[in-house]
Order: sequence, then structure tokens, then C-alpha cells
Amino acid sequence: MWYIGSMPPQNPFLNTPYGAYLVREVPPPDDELTRVGPGTPGGEYLRRFWQPVVFARDLGEVPLRIRIMGEDLVVFRDKSGRAGLLQLHCAHRGTSLEYGLIGERGIRCCYHGWVYDVDGRILETPGEPAASTLKERLCQGAYPVHEFGGLVFAYMGPPHKKPAFPLYDTFDLPGYTLMPAGKFALPCNWLQIKDNAMDPVHTSFLHAISSGYQFTPAFGALAELDWEETPYGMMYIATRRIGDLVWVRVADFMAPNVHQFTRELEDATKEKPASRPVVIRWAVPIDDTHTWNMELAQVDPAWGFTPAQIGGPGFGQSDDRTYAERQRHPADYDAQTGQREIAVHALEHLASTDRGVIMFRKIVRDGIRAVATGRDPRFLLRTSAPPIPTACQDTVLRISPESDPEADKRLLRETGRKIALGR
Ligand code: FES
Ligand SMILES: [Fe+2]
Repeated sequence: MWYIGSMPPQNPFLNTPYGAYLVREVPPPDDELTRVGPGTPGGEYLRRFWQPVVFARDLGEVPLRIRIMGEDLVVFRDKSGRAGLLQLHCAHRGTSLEYGLIGERGIRCCYHGWVYDVDGRILETPGEPAASTLKERLCQGAYPVHEFGGLVFAYMGPPHKKPAFPLYDTFDLPGYTLMPAGKFALPCNWLQIKDNAMDPVHTSFLHAISSGYQFTPAFGALAELDWEETPYGMMYIATRRIGDLVWVRVADFMAPNVHQFTRELEDATKEKPASRPVVIRWAVPIDDTHTWNMELAQVDPAWGFTPAQIGGPGFGQSDDRTYAERQRHPADYDAQTGQREIAVHALEHLASTDRGVIMFRKIVRDGIRAVATGRDPRFLLRTSAPPIPTACQDTVLRISPESDPEADKRLLRETGRKIALGR
């Protein structure tokens, strides 16, 4: 059931000790927000935007079978250098094109040799009579692709609604090189992965106070938090007092499923102007309960990292640690997948630090309803435009603390907003 126009019923607010018996029922997830398959409201919304589907580095001599938003597809680069994204099963009798032969132009099905161009047009039907017009009349299902930064993006929405490809100012940062970075799958729904992106308080607990310092000790200081809508989605502003210094960390959410954040290197030990080496991360659904995180990163060549080091998932982002380690020092992978395969919003008790999560879900829900009623979702780029200015940064300033703790918190919030919105 799609709860269009309303949200799933909220479970009772339990206020009875030893009261588990009273709240055993697990309601369904919010299908409107979380389902991604063809024809679902959420799936149709996500399909209106360009989505990365594979890294160019992974396109080799043989085709690659992939699954994106519940659709089985094959992706390849033909020998003339063009990338193609086709439905997996051959239009003739359904053999999987993952066994196809990549040619100078397009891909040849292994079974009866039909050849498909990257746009799905049939180039050859070698077993058919020479006079056959079948190849002029039939196409294999194909989606348009666009390559950028070492990623292959696909547009999987209605052909006549294809948007422009959005560029952000952080794609081109002086002194840094934009590189393909990590790709790692999580066995959970995409929405809870992106919930995490607008939930900065977890950086103090999950990544510092409760699990040991996973980034720098500065993350362990509790931040004053704020969130603001932007022309491309929204941002969080996390402002921490570290002695006489104030550290403002800003992360961006770019609708519908992208966010960018600064590297978790800031120790806030000295003043510095806005620094912006960023990781830009897409959460691309494989299906309702599995998601790819795919990243681009801005890298300072002076860091001396190899492409393999840049391409590896960060600490705790994937299942590359043992269960014993993950239990003792849980990180993002564990927190996000631990919310069930699909987090059940009806069982949540959202609190003051969840304002960003609430804003994020509203952006997604409004977008879903716009698409469902025949409109463009907000934040969709209709025509090509210059790079969009974004806010993501680390800035450290020297500001003496106020003696009154509440006044100091106000000072932090005001400082954070000024820095974040002043760009
Ligand atoms: S099944 Fe592909 S050519 Fe026959
Ligand atoms: Fe995190």
C-alpha cells in the first residue's frame, strides 16, 4: 500500500516499564518513501534524476551485469569507446547480455548473434533472411548514459523528461583532483543511508563518544546544530567549541540522493579559512533492501594516495570488518544496516536532533508527490547551468567563549550560520 497523502499510522508511545508486550507489532515501512522499483512512487521520483550506475574503471573486456532500482541491466563500453546501458535480457529470446560479445559497435548476443547498438537499436540479425526488416522495427530497451569524473550516470526516467546534468562548484576545486573513490554496498534501503547524511549529531556519538575516536578527537565535542534549505537541497551546520577556537563543519545534501562532506581530518587545533576537500556520495538503490554508495573525491596530490587507496571504503563504511570488531567499534555500516532492512518510521521517536532528517524526508516526499501528480520535482535541473555554488566546508575561527554556557551556544549557532550562509 502506498500511503499517498498520509503517512503510515504511528505506533503508541510506550510509557510502561517492562512494556515490550504492548508494542510488539512491527508496522510496515513507509512504502511511499522507500520503495524503488519501476512504477513505485519513490522509484519514479528517483528515476527523474541522473544516477551513477557504474565506475568507468569497471568497464572492461566483458559486459557487466548490474541491478539498479530493481531493474536488471547490462553495462559495457564498446570498442569504439561508447558506454551502453541495456536491459539485461535480449529482445530475441531473453538470453542475458552479460554473456554478450562486445564489438566495435555495440554488443552481440551470444545466443543467435543479434547485435545491439548502445541506444538499443538492432544493427544485425544474422540468422534472419537478408530481406528481414525486423531490425528496423524493433529495439532492445536502453537508457541514456552520461560520463563524468570516472562515473557512468544513467537517466532511467521517461525519455521526454530527461533533465540536464547538474554540476556543483565542488567538482572543480583549485589544487585538488577529482577522482573516482569508493563503491560499497549496504544491505538496507537507500533512504536510511541518506537520513544519516543530515544527522550530524551521530558524528559525535557513533564516531567518537560511543565507539572510540574514528576520525579526530574534535568530533567528540558536541556541536550546536542547524539546518537550512538550499537551492540544491539542504545543508547541516555543526558548530563546535574547541577551547578558544570554533569549528564550523557544513555538509550538503543534493536532492534526491547525493551528499557531500569534508574529509574527516579536521582536528580544529588552529584557525583556518574554509577548506573544501570533499567526498561526494550517491546512494543508488540496487533494490528496496540493497544500496550502492558511490563516491567521487577531491584529492590533494600532495597526500600521495594511490587510486586503490582513494577507491577503498572509509573506516566502518562497509562490511570489511569482522562481526566481533563491528560489535565493539560500530560505525556507519552497522548503524545504518542495524535500523532493519527498511527502517520503520512508525516506530521512531524523532527528537530535536532529528530536524535535519525530518527536513530531508519532506524534500523526498514532496518530490515524490510532485512526480506522482505530473509535475517536475524541486531541485531538478531542466537546462544546463553553470556549476551550482554549495556550502560544504570546514572553517576554524578564534572566538573567546562567553562565560554563560547558554550565551556561548547562541554565539556558536550564530557563527555557524554566518559562515555557512555567507558563501
Ligand atoms: S536470445 Fe539473443 S539473439 Fe537470440
Ligand atoms: Fe557517519
